[in-house]
Amino acid sequence: MNLESLKGRHLIDPEDFTMEELQTLLELGLKMEARPEEYADCCKGKIMGTLFYEPSTRTRLSFESAMLRLGGQVLGFSDAAVSSAAKGESLADTVRVMDDYAHALVMRHPREGAPKLAAQYATVPVINAGDGGHQHPTQTLTDLLTLQKYRGAIENLQVAFCGDLLFGRTVHSLLKTLCRFPGMTFYLVSPTELRIPGHLRDELQHRYHITLHETSRLEDCIEDIDLLYMTRIQKERFFNEEEYVKLKDSFILTRDKLKTAKEDLMVLHPLPRVNEIQYEVDDDPRARYFEQATMGVYIRMALLSAVMGVNLA
Ligand code: CP
Repeated sequence: MNLESLKGRHLIDPEDFTMEELQTLLELGLKMEARPEEYADCCKGKIMGTLFYEPSTRTRLSFESAMLRLGGQVLGFSDAAVSSAAKGESLADTVRVMDDYAHALVMRHPREGAPKLAAQYATVPVINAGDGGHQHPTQTLTDLLTLQKYRGAIENLQVAFCGDLLFGRTVHSLLKTLCRFPGMTFYLVSPTELRIPGHLRDELQHRYHITLHETSRLEDCIEDIDLLYMTRIQKERFFNEEEYVKLKDSFILTRDKLKTAKEDLMVLHPLPRVNEIQYEVDDDPRARYFEQATMGVYIRMALLSAVMGVNLA
């Protein structure tokens, strides 16, 4: 396993890593999940900095859990209001300072492109933990590890993305990544108002030659799919409340709606959910979203070890 190439690298966009690097990280993530005790000291003496300008439960805390499990330490803020951003400090200045306090920086920001800007001012690796409605590459790593563990090879899958595909950064990153695996078919299920951004559609169709099946009815594909990726309609991305209220319950997954789905379907959701998956679905063996959240710890352990260049021998 050669992780050398990832040492000191930023992860801003899922395309920053080659397919070989992604596969190597997934292999390491599975090893760390199977035998976490073997990696308990590998980040001893290292510090991870978190700069979260937007709320988070899973991403921030799974990063923190990952770093602590590797024997490292963490510092940072989980709310811009308690940082000097509240006093008007620029992102560039904050990053220049944090760069001296930590060996890697994990950043979530409401502004698209903020982590890319941060990377220009950092000498340590910057990891994008979600920027506005743009990208969320470490959620994609989490999704891939979940697929790898519970499904095996990631190939020849019929995948439906359902919900907010316009602002859904987890969807954008996963689509841009799964299209690099062989034999994928995509169904994009959303209200007309929340279809994927035009630039992403163009990229998938013209650069990757992917055929996209866009629909507003989950019933159109539920019987055929291997993976159902549900997402929340994100209140915080809407400009007006009325539009949100109109669209918020566009899709509600129930046990009944899964009756005609394949027995080996996998239902994922990056979480948090609001109303789009009923609690009764949680007991269905096809629901894997809580296992998915768990996988986030192990793939982030793999990622942190790799970008910090620790010796795993
Ligand atoms: N999946 C995800 O990004 O969750 P959080 O917003 O809780 O970090």
